[in-house]
Amino acid sequence: MSHFPNGFLWGGATAANQYEGGWNEGGRGPALTDVTTGGTVDSPRMVTWIDKYGSPHASPSHGFTLPEGASYAVLEDYYYPNHKGTDFYHHWKEDIGLFAEMGFKVFRMSISWSRLFPNGIEETPNPEGVEFYRNVFKELKAHGIEPLVTIWHFDTPLYLEEKMKGWNNRDLIDLYVRFAQTCFEEYKGLVKYWLTFNEINNTIMFLDMWGHEADNEEFRAAYQQLHYQFVASAKAVQVGHAIDPENRIGCMICGITFYPATCDPKDIMLNRHQWEKNIFYCGDVQCKGEYPVFSKRLWQEHDVELDITDEDRKILKEGTVDYYTFSYYMSNTITTHDVEEKAGGNNVEGARNPYLRYSDWGWGFDPLGLRYFLEVINDRYHKPIMIVENGLGAYDIVEEDGSIHDPFRIDYYREHIKEMDQAIAEGVDLIGYTTWGCIDLVSAGTGEMRKRYGFIYVDMDDKGEGTMKRTPKDSFYWYKKVIASNGNDL
Ligand code: BG6
Repeated sequence: MSHFPNGFLWGGATAANQYEGGWNEGGRGPALTDVTTGGTVDSPRMVTWIDKYGSPHASPSHGFTLPEGASYAVLEDYYYPNHKGTDFYHHWKEDIGLFAEMGFKVFRMSISWSRLFPNGIEETPNPEGVEFYRNVFKELKAHGIEPLVTIWHFDTPLYLEEKMKGWNNRDLIDLYVRFAQTCFEEYKGLVKYWLTFNEINNTIMFLDMWGHEADNEEFRAAYQQLHYQFVASAKAVQVGHAIDPENRIGCMICGITFYPATCDPKDIMLNRHQWEKNIFYCGDVQCKGEYPVFSKRLWQEHDVELDITDEDRKILKEGTVDYYTFSYYMSNTITTHDVEEKAGGNNVEGARNPYLRYSDWGWGFDPLGLRYFLEVINDRYHKPIMIVENGLGAYDIVEEDGSIHDPFRIDYYREHIKEMDQAIAEGVDLIGYTTWGCIDLVSAGTGEMRKRYGFIYVDMDDKGEGTMKRTPKDSFYWYKKVIASNGNDL
């Protein structure tokens, strides 16, 4: 017998910028993801822009800052995969029908900020945008599926990025809170589960990576941006609770399990500090309402002087989240010694762990690492937990008869679900599981379509060619069985 409680929230997850499409329809304004091209596992995504003399440019998106007088631009010779995503905008009824067929209890999606507030600064929301999501939520409810809504998933309106310096600007707090408040008011009674910021810790965790050496100034900016996001999140929690006490509002952390590569005490200490900087720093502020003691050390490392007020501290204290959520794809093995072989891939840069298998994108397959992460978080926060992303980005082959056999994906999920079951048996308060990209969508890291996660195949390629036809893969029928048996039939 499995240990999943009755009412366990089984489902899948997506994000507007990667899935929704309709980028310039229904009054939507552009977001930064709309001026970002596709890349591959070893060539970065580019941001396109025009300098003050009108010359076009494309620069690697990671660590990019728009030069003075320049503006972001969609350029003719480039393809922007997020413009179409996999077209939820025009397929939402059909897709929700498929999720219902799998037996989803919950569906995670995000609201595109610039669909409600095209430039982010408007006093009132775009009615067409508001209506779009209302119809989606009603359809989910009609199928008995609980929406789980991420308010911000990597898509700040482009106007705010370009004219207001994005999250470097304290004014973003109030603009975000207005957006969040609109969501709580408009969808009261339809949505109960909310997440304020997707993978909020990425700002720090991935700053100094992918061939980019961040200097102190960048670290200072990153810690400051995070602080404004923490305050925005805490304010949103308070507003959301005031509008509807039924609302359950959570944080969302990019969950990577860190291991020391050796028993050298220096590696053990490094490992502890990686957990603090990358995982606990954000979780502690959002769950406990104050900066942890080790923040001082982190700030000192980069001469950080935070712009933080007494009012901010009060807001943080009074706006702690109701539950903790995280994404989990892999562990990362780190060391102070020379690394013989790197893990590779486009997400972690630690040592290759000889005990793990790796995906074609270099992401380590480590189900036990998921249980480890669950146990650590359960002990630390004593709050309900949801895993809101987990999955395997892989190549799929469409057979001549149109079928798609993905036993590797089934295997991946089976092993992770077994560890979740074990964690629950040990007392971890895990209440839900939404697999990432339950329907194929654009990869966030590489912008590719061929890195597929879905139970449902979407006919679309890396050049934007395809019919958008939806086809269930073998994993679709397998997951349906898992949900129907509440995790017993794996
Ligand atoms: C998480 C993000 O980092 O990982 C998602 O929240 C993303 O947006 C997912 O898609 C998988 O990463 P990738 O790069 O394979 O799309």
